Amino acid sequence: MHFFPLLSVAATLVVPATALPKLQQRQAPTGVPDYVLNYAPLVYLYSGEQYFPSDIRAQVSNTIPEINFSPVANVANPLDLNSLNTLSQDVYLTSKDDITKSPAWLRGVKLDGSGKTNNAVTAAVIVNDKGSGNVDAFYMYFYAYNWGGIVAGIKSLQFGNHVGDWEHNMIRFSSGVPQYIWYSQHSNGEAFKYSVVEKSGLRPIVYSANGSHANYAISGTHDHTIPNLNLPAGFLEDHTDKGTLWDPLLSSYHYSYTPSGNSFTPYDTTGTTPVNWLYFNGRWGDQEYPTSDKRQVKVFGQAKYASGPTGPADKQLNRSNVCPDNGQECILRTILVPKDLGELER
Ligand SMILES: *[C@@H]1O[C@H](CO)[C@@H](O)[C@H](O)[C@H]1NC(C)=O
Ligand SMILES: *[C@@H]1O[C@H](CO)[C@@H](O)[C@H](O)[C@H]1NC(C)=O
Repeated sequence: MHFFPLLSVAATLVVPATALPKLQQRQAPTGVPDYVLNYAPLVYLYSGEQYFPSDIRAQVSNTIPEINFSPVANVANPLDLNSLNTLSQDVYLTSKDDITKSPAWLRGVKLDGSGKTNNAVTAAVIVNDKGSGNVDAFYMYFYAYNWGGIVAGIKSLQFGNHVGDWEHNMIRFSSGVPQYIWYSQHSNGEAFKYSVVEKSGLRPIVYSANGSHANYAISGTHDHTIPNLNLPAGFLEDHTDKGTLWDPLLSSYHYSYTPSGNSFTPYDTTGTTPVNWLYFNGRWGDQEYPTSDKRQVKVFGQAKYASGPTGPADKQLNRSNVCPDNGQECILRTILVPKDLGELER
């Protein structure tokens, strides 16, 4: 490892020793801008979390590519992160196991005391340098499974589970200085000025919600809604707290992104970082089961088991706003308050 520059984490100098587990020294290939690493978010998983960050590579070995619930013929051999791009966008990486039997890999990997996922690469840092000092850094987090939550506290009203879960933060830098940070949450998210979010040293703190892994800037309970389904406030909640600390930088791939060619280049020049998986446009989990499948339940038109998500390339990596362009207003929040108080946040 001596050929990588070792940089100490400023956070450990600033925060009281009791506040955080001791952070490890990070490793990153040469060429990743220092500020992208220095300001990288730290993630608190929920104390009761059952579905942990997961090895991106293992998702491929634990699934088979299917289209319309049928295995795809003549797939690349081996099918791995270097050959995933040979699959079409209609493909669903479908669990080899019955997920209702809770196979161990769905639960992700245990973190060590420093917040590292050992022997598992669970995150990807993607840097879009737009020139003139304007850089958007995406911190992509991977979980093998998303547990969707329950409605109104009724255990049988449980939906929105899916295999595969990509979440992210994006930090917008201007000449190496962080300006704004985006937190992905369900179909949308929240943007804040960097200066107002909670930090450990320089690094923004992120609260990953129980099961759904939606990313919040503050801990506690967050109401959230489902698109096209109006539920009274409090009926569907995300729970966050200072459970286990995850430092995604300790087990991450690093890439630069070029919008003109929609292309990714690993910073690591040794050839050990896979890149072709970023060009896979299909889904990272099972297709929504039909209601004829015994496992499926539909309540209010919402499936208990939904389809898996698309990957990092589908997160609008060349966005003009801090928020993705999705028809919703992009509020750049200047004070740290719960989302419900949205009108106060401008
Ligand atoms: C957290 O998620 C687990 C399933 O992963 C669930 O059993 C538990 O009830 C959830 N806790 C809260 C507070 O929602
Ligand atoms: C990327 O974004 C920049 C700035 O918003 C824009 O000028 C450029 O045309 C975009 N590139 C592509 C390929 O869309």
